[in-house]
Amino acid sequence: MAGFTVDVHLDGRGVLDTIGEDVRRGLSAPRKFLYPKYFYDAHGSQLFEQITELPEYYPTRTELAILCAERENILRRAAPHEMLELGSGASTKVRTLLDGRPDPATPARYVAFDVSESIVREAGEDLVRSYPGLEVHGVIGDFERHLGTIPPAEGRRLVLFLGGTIGNLEREERQAFLCQVRDLLSWGDFLLLGADLVKDVDVLEAAYNDSAGVSADFSRNVLSVINYALHADFDLSLWRHRAHWNANAARIEMHLYARSAHSIRIVDLDMTVDFAEGESIWTESSHKFTRETASAMLEAAGMTLDTWYTDDREYFGLVLARAT
Ligand code: SAH
Ligand code: TRP
Repeated sequence: MAGFTVDVHLDGRGVLDTIGEDVRRGLSAPRKFLYPKYFYDAHGSQLFEQITELPEYYPTRTELAILCAERENILRRAAPHEMLELGSGASTKVRTLLDGRPDPATPARYVAFDVSESIVREAGEDLVRSYPGLEVHGVIGDFERHLGTIPPAEGRRLVLFLGGTIGNLEREERQAFLCQVRDLLSWGDFLLLGADLVKDVDVLEAAYNDSAGVSADFSRNVLSVINYALHADFDLSLWRHRAHWNANAARIEMHLYARSAHSIRIVDLDMTVDFAEGESIWTESSHKFTRETASAMLEAAGMTLDTWYTDDREYFGLVLARAT
């Protein structure tokens, strides 16, 4: 049945139901850190959309170009009856696949799973307007906790996990997540995974330290989320964003650095946190892969690389994988 429905699997406070314990853990650690899922409130999702349009931020543009060039091959190989996208955000990339469908009646269903309700609602309404006959089902949840709530597949499924978001998970979480994704696949189903690739350090660092300062705003937005959700008093002007390439760990590490020594108060946690001048909060990592490391992480989760797609400069990899 065509149309748009949304299921919400987060409590009244949405993803914020776990923010208290996560912030307490992160800000009482010897090296302070936060979890990236809290970046994406309505404002954060908008800022991320701006990041995708920055000249320095090559991943979105590159992945989209690969999708566009290869969509017929991908759709022929996977022949999906439905597409399920995890971390779907604004659902821009799926349009490329929908536009390339040989038969406009298949896939007939698109399931969008994301932690950010506002962006799924907006994207879903736009999609049903653009593709009459397409059933769009939004599912709001945390992809590390709620993949079990996804409605059963209606025929052959293609799971999409794009944007290099896989790189934002740490090794252990990543493998656990991929094992759960594996369980969403039946025999004959495919996963299309976007992985950003190891490349020149200057290109990588520029993508996360753009000259317009949007990455910095996005990064600092997590402090606003904490201020709002937990009645804290972070002063955003006291924080500087910087992303560094860690070659040994093959990842970009994003930090907020305190411009001066100060304390903040988190009323809901009855907690005071002291920061030294120059002390950092590690806000996010973005791991980069090679064809070999991408293939290995899939194998370790019971999947196998079927086809590898990349661009001329080998900046970004799109992996079509299937369950073994
Ligand atoms: N797929 C889109 C968006 C990538 S940004 C693209 O390729 O452009 C990452 C997306 O993942 C955001 O929309 C964010 O809200 C979502 N996200 C991040 N952590 C999440 C989590 N734990 N559970 C569900 N969605 C999450
Ligand atoms: N998923 C994005 C990535 O790893 C997240 C991101 C892009 C990001 N730019 C950022 C996070 C700047 C913090 C700051 O590419």
